[in-house]
Amino acid sequence: MFLPQEIIRKKRDGNVLEAADINAFVRGVAADEVSEGQIAAFTMATYLNGMTSEEAVALTRAMRDSGTVLNWKAFNLPGPIVDKHSSGGVGDVVSLMMGPMVAACGGFVPMISGRGLGHTGGTLDKFDSIPGYQTSISIEKFQQVVRDVGVAIIGQTAELAPADKRIYATRDVTATVESIPLITASILSKKLSAGLDALVMDVKVGSGAFMPTLEKSRELARSIVEVGNGAGVKTSALLTDMNEPLAPCAGNAIEVRCAVDYLIGKSRPQRLHEVTMALSAQLLVTAGIAKGVGEARQVLTHCLESGRAAECFAKMVTALGGPADLLENPRKYMPVAPVIKPVLAMRSGFIAACDTRRVGMVVVALGGGRMRAADKIDFAVGLADIVSLGMHVNTGDLLAMVHARTEEAASSAMREFEQAITISDLAPARLPLVQMLTE
Ligand code: URA
Repeated sequence: MFLPQEIIRKKRDGNVLEAADINAFVRGVAADEVSEGQIAAFTMATYLNGMTSEEAVALTRAMRDSGTVLNWKAFNLPGPIVDKHSSGGVGDVVSLMMGPMVAACGGFVPMISGRGLGHTGGTLDKFDSIPGYQTSISIEKFQQVVRDVGVAIIGQTAELAPADKRIYATRDVTATVESIPLITASILSKKLSAGLDALVMDVKVGSGAFMPTLEKSRELARSIVEVGNGAGVKTSALLTDMNEPLAPCAGNAIEVRCAVDYLIGKSRPQRLHEVTMALSAQLLVTAGIAKGVGEARQVLTHCLESGRAAECFAKMVTALGGPADLLENPRKYMPVAPVIKPVLAMRSGFIAACDTRRVGMVVVALGGGRMRAADKIDFAVGLADIVSLGMHVNTGDLLAMVHARTEEAASSAMREFEQAITISDLAPARLPLVQMLTE
């Protein structure tokens, strides 16, 4: 007989669970036979006692199999099924470019993206800011667009990894989010339900990262690589810097305009370009599309310069209901905020530090993110022209442009943004932008 409390007891007492225990528990979660209290007890026991890698693999597989797992065999695609995932950040617009770039290089990218969480932006919210673009579509249509275009970026559907939805909701209100095996299984179960051959994980490090320290970020990256490979998907990870916004902007429509400018070659901000290329190259190598990072970077550069990546993005937008000429006319379609105000430096010196979490919260407070899950987003608002760490500014120089709905919201955002930036006489130490995961 299935008794969830016996499985919880085993984990509470520090024992290792069998895959059969974990399967039974997760099946019970998906079938509503396990109560919220039992999920809370299980996740707290896991939070306190951890899991072996085998247990985390079993949990990931069980959560993935709690719903539909996409099967691509019937499509006979000429390339591997691949994806990326980021642990979340501010101005992290990489997915918008990387999906089409990897598709243009021969990968097939069924990307199921999430909404903004806390201070971080969400790829799903960014696509929702494109008029007409449908992020909520059937699995059949999703697979068709991936087959025809090479990439489709949509939101989570109820069919994929439903056990994660219940477990995550309980973790959120029981102080059990910050558990490496639970985070690993949550992220991977959703990603792996797309039927992937290869995945690259971008784990952020720094003041705007989800994990609080470099060591914790490394631990999460190692766990994802080990469990992803253990669950049968070629998985690799890079650690990337989030001690300042990745793009020089943050906010949904503003970031879409930045991605369009990047793809058409109008503007490729250096940090954003480097991280996008590093993750894309890593994925091409992990998936076996390129033999090494050097070759991968050459192919990616060609796909960008020839316009093929931009073409993939345009085709995806059109196939999912967005404007056919978004790339030619992004400013015609993307909403623009009515109040645009500069934040100016109050003193001269070097941009020495950025509280990136606080910058993310400026965007949330402007209405560009959610305070409560049910909140509606104002797609137009956010920050643009954000200064970079290490830059020298004089008094009165621009630190960022605030895009707001009202004068009051702009004033408050200007004050908050200024507080998030430290200007000092000393130039800050240069931090690595991309780090390989070493054992
Ligand atoms: N994102 C997820 O999808 N799951 C977690 O547990 C944490 C972040």
